[in-house]
Amino acid sequence: MISQKMQEALNDQVKAEFYSGYLYLAMAAWFETQNLGGFANWMRVQTQEELAHGMIIYNYIHNRGGQVVLGAIDQPPAEWDSPRKAFENAYAHEQVVTGRINKLMDLAIQESDYATSAFLQWFVNEQVEEELSASTIVNQLTVAGESPNALFMLDREFAARTFNLPTPLQNA
Ligand code: FEO
Repeated sequence: MISQKMQEALNDQVKAEFYSGYLYLAMAAWFETQNLGGFANWMRVQTQEELAHGMIIYNYIHNRGGQVVLGAIDQPPAEWDSPRKAFENAYAHEQVVTGRINKLMDLAIQESDYATSAFLQWFVNEQVEEELSASTIVNQLTVAGESPNALFMLDREFAARTFNLPTPLQNA
């Protein structure tokens, strides 16, 4: 059984993961308007990842005898000044999410909730990947500059991204 405080914090993270999905879906929609279908695909896959993150926590709350209570999801922005600005936003957002995961870990340790601490370790590792993938693309877009050719090449590359069900959901 998890504590009430931990349950509330995890519920809040379910909402934060779904908001992340909403934010990336908004970016996907914006990339569609820029005729960058590959970038839009990358963001749609990212949306699926975020919804999966939310479901991993959803399952965990239930597995520990808790109750999932869904909160209202904020409206994300709808427009960005450039593909690079969108990915800078994504990178900054992932850093915020990392801070949230760290706070959850702090709470688990504070409560001597070793099961939740072990559970959260997957998210700690995942955030390293999340920050790396967003910051790598920011760097690629910085190198690409104003070159339409470079943007076209990246768009082709991102069109190939596919969604893989995260490990914790494969056995759920
Ligand atoms: Fe759920 Fe992008 O971290």
